[in-house]
Amino acid sequence: MMPAPHISLASKNDLDDILEIEINCFGAHAWTKEMFKVVLSDVTCKTFVYKDALGTTIGFSILRVVADEAEIDNLAIYPKFKRLGFGKALVEKMIANAKKAGATTMFLEVDTTSLPAIALYESLGFVKLGLRKNYYGTADAYTYSLLL
Ligand SMILES: CC(C)(COP(=O)(O)OP(=O)(O)OC[C@H]1O[C@@H](n2cnc3c(N)ncnc32)[C@H](O)[C@@H]1OP(=O)(O)O)[C@@H](O)C(=O)NCCC(=O)NCCS
Repeated sequence: MMPAPHISLASKNDLDDILEIEINCFGAHAWTKEMFKVVLSDVTCKTFVYKDALGTTIGFSILRVVADEAEIDNLAIYPKFKRLGFGKALVEKMIANAKKAGATTMFLEVDTTSLPAIALYESLGFVKLGLRKNYYGTADAYTYSLLL
């Protein structure tokens, strides 16, 4: 029987799929393969991949937990799978995982022009803390937090 769509921890075998999604979503601002490799070997980070029943990678997310603070370091859904609830499921997975690890607050930065991401985070109760000018080169970022 084929496994249902599911979220699991990423391995090195997922790097090419993750990179393809990253480039599709962030273009010139995409992380490099080296950056993902570093994250995969960082004990404070967890990289999650969402795969469909055929094993196709739909999206991924990166959670960092240090002491009682959690941070969403990356989140992206392959364009053709957007607006189907997968991004929300990945954020909910990170929230549950961060709580389990003992975090009490979750933080993130989001490009001020990424309206779908802002809508997603606000729908889950994240509250805007402030603005970081030129956080992404010339683009500004909002900082958000959620009490876990
Ligand atoms: C942000 C992103 C991850 C959302 O993933 P997604 O799977 O498409 O989102 P979901 O289907 O789970 O949406 C959940 C909720 O978020 C909000 N939302 C998501 N996309 C939206 C859009 N285009 N317009 C308005 N609201 C949106 C809605 O409230 C939605 O609930 P609804 O569909 O019941 O109305 C995806 O758009 C993406 O990969 N964007 C590019 C990368 C990016 O900006 N990442 C964030 C880095 S901080």
